[in-house]
Order: sequence, then C-alpha cells, then structure tokens
Amino acid sequence: MHILDVVQNSVRAEAKLVEITLSGDQEQDLLTLEIRDDGKGMDSETCARASDPFFTTKPGRRIGLGLALLAQAAREAEGDFQVASRPEAGTMIAASFRWSHPDCKPLGDITATLETLVTAHRGVDFVYEQREGAEIARFDSREVRRA
Ligand SMILES: Nc1ncnc2c1ncn2[C@@H]1O[C@H](COP(=O)(O)OP(=O)(O)OP(=O)(O)O)[C@@H](O)[C@H]1O
Ligand SMILES: [Mg+2]
Repeated sequence: MHILDVVQNSVRAEAKLVEITLSGDQEQDLLTLEIRDDGKGMDSETCARASDPFFTTKPGRRIGLGLALLAQAAREAEGDFQVASRPEAGTMIAASFRWSHPDCKPLGDITATLETLVTAHRGVDFVYEQREGAEIARFDSREVRRA
C-alpha cells in the first residue's frame, strides 16, 4: 500500500520512469525500500517539508499523508526515512526497517502491486528490483510493453 501511495506522487510529478528497489540484508537485519523517479522534483524547501503531514501541494487540501505514513512505518520498525530531490531532475525516497521487527510492514502481493501500477499508468514505466544476498529479481515494464 505504501508503494502504491508513494508512486502516486511520482506520477503526479510527471515521472516517465519509476524505479523501485527492495533490498533485504539478513546480516544487518535491514530491509530497505527505495523509490526513484525522474519527475519534476522539489526545491530544497519543499523537500524538507515533504514528509510533514501538514504539508501538501495538492490544491484545496491541507494535509498530505503519503510520505508521513511511510516515515512513521519506518520509525515504528526502528528504521530510517529520507527524501532527496532536485528540481527538474527527480526524487528519491528511502525507507528502511529492522527486518525482524514485529512492526516491519509485510511486503504483501508485490506482483499485484506492479500489475496495478503498470496497467493504471500507461505513460509511465516501472523497474522493480528485489535483492537478497546474491539473489536479484528484476521486472521492467518496458520489456512487457514491447512484447
Ligand atoms: N516524487 C515526488 N516528486 C515531486 N514532489 C513530491 C514527490 N513526492 C512528494 N512530493 C511533494 O510532497 C508533498 C507531500 O507528499 P505526500 O505524499 O506526503 O502527500 P500528498 O501527495 O500531498 O497527499 P496524499 O499522499 O495524502 O494524497 C506533495 O504534495 C508534493 O508537493
Ligand atoms: Mg502522496
């Protein structure tokens, strides 16, 4: 649900490519989610406020919860949360979780998540990479759309 929600920000920022990476490191007991887009990005002031629940640039709205809720989920699992962005270049969201923490969010049905993203946003491409140790699984919607 967090992935669907945060990717929505990238789509709204007119991204053409969204890259989602999920890395699990058993030794460090760390699960890391990164979402990178090539959308219109944010200036440093907007970026600093992006995960404030009382900040949004949606017209007519006073709260923006997508990033705030992901940041809270990371904190609840003793993890970390970061937003980095540059105007006209894109945005990177990183959330980490202590993997064995009881409050670490479950991955859910990632296949259905990707299917939803790819079918709902015809003009956007998605790369999903899941890494655990030497194992890497990769999905690239450009390959699917070509086929
Ligand atoms: N990938 C992004 N690219 C550009 N701006 C972003 C991006 N992600 C977030 N922002 C900015 O940060 C604000 C806060 O994002 P957040 O997802 O927390 O709330 P929201 O999208 O405004 O509302 P909600 O997610 O609750 O529908 C956005 O309104 C937007 O201005
Ligand atoms: Mg949002």
